[in-house]
Amino acid sequence: MQVKSLRGKNFIAISDFTKEEIVTMLDAGFALKLENARGEHHHILQDKTIFMMFYNKSLRTRNSFETGIFQLGGHGIYLDTNAVYTPAVKGQEQAFATERLDDVAKVLSRYGEAICVRIFGDPVGWVYGAANNYMREFARAAEVPVINMEDDMYHPCQGMADLMTMQEKLGTLEGKKVVISWAYSPSRKKPISVPHSMMAVSSLFGAHVVLAHPEGFDLDPAQIANAKDNVARYGGSFTITHDMNEAFKDADVVYPKCWPSPKFFATAEKEADWKAQDELFDANKGWICDEKIMELTNRDSIYMHCLPCDRSFEVTDAVIDGPHSVVYDQAENRMHAQNGVMAVLMNG
Ligand code: CP
Repeated sequence: MQVKSLRGKNFIAISDFTKEEIVTMLDAGFALKLENARGEHHHILQDKTIFMMFYNKSLRTRNSFETGIFQLGGHGIYLDTNAVYTPAVKGQEQAFATERLDDVAKVLSRYGEAICVRIFGDPVGWVYGAANNYMREFARAAEVPVINMEDDMYHPCQGMADLMTMQEKLGTLEGKKVVISWAYSPSRKKPISVPHSMMAVSSLFGAHVVLAHPEGFDLDPAQIANAKDNVARYGGSFTITHDMNEAFKDADVVYPKCWPSPKFFATAEKEADWKAQDELFDANKGWICDEKIMELTNRDSIYMHCLPCDRSFEVTDAVIDGPHSVVYDQAENRMHAQNGVMAVLMNG
């Protein structure tokens, strides 16, 4: 693989890259993590600036990017979309409140070396795919890489951190049972990005990927097709079950997380139906990760969550604070994995 071909690319979805390219960025992240642990600092992105534009709240993403670019010798600028002229696509501008998205992307490209964006939910009216379209519009107009800090379909930076964590904890994913499970939560208005990105990374390395959810919480068929293609090409398997206990039996990795049902999202023709979604959620309150269900997993299994999590709903304190949990390593790996991505895409 020619590394130079990665320079300047956008980082919007795991599936936009080949396995070889994902491994290259992951290895760069591992190398930088090791050097960081040794106290060696390489300012390989010296004097480079990233702009971080947030439409939604964040703890991990903002701070891991800001710290990460600083470690690499560069500078991160936080842009609150309420405090800048909000980028708007052609035809949706409002005088003195917004600015044509193309103009924002081109101007920021003149100052810095990457534009990072987080957008989902209210800013795009909960229309599934609209936030990803917005991200891709930014990438079309920008003259520097656009890095997806989470949209409604993808959280590729989380996916890279999850992959790094699984490889650290398990050594290899080959032959391992990796369970991506729905879990109940009273907070329902969320993107469907984390399970999609987790499916994309875990299906590349020979794992037996199991997707578990109650009826009605199906993930995007295109993302499932991508995971099936990956296991056909690289080994392992992909199955779907509606039984949480069956999924957890003999699992090596469990990733129980709430996600909404896209069938209740808004479309160009209709508003989101949150009431119908609430009824479906309320019928599935039993989908919780507790010590009893963890007993079904392998002795050395790991419990994963991207955080923030809804304690007492998605998971009990005993599990997330218990011996299987790797959630803080996962959160730390956000920074190392992203450093690898930035080092490869922004260098040169
Ligand atoms: N996991 C994650 O993206 O966390 P934040 O929402 O805090 O950025």
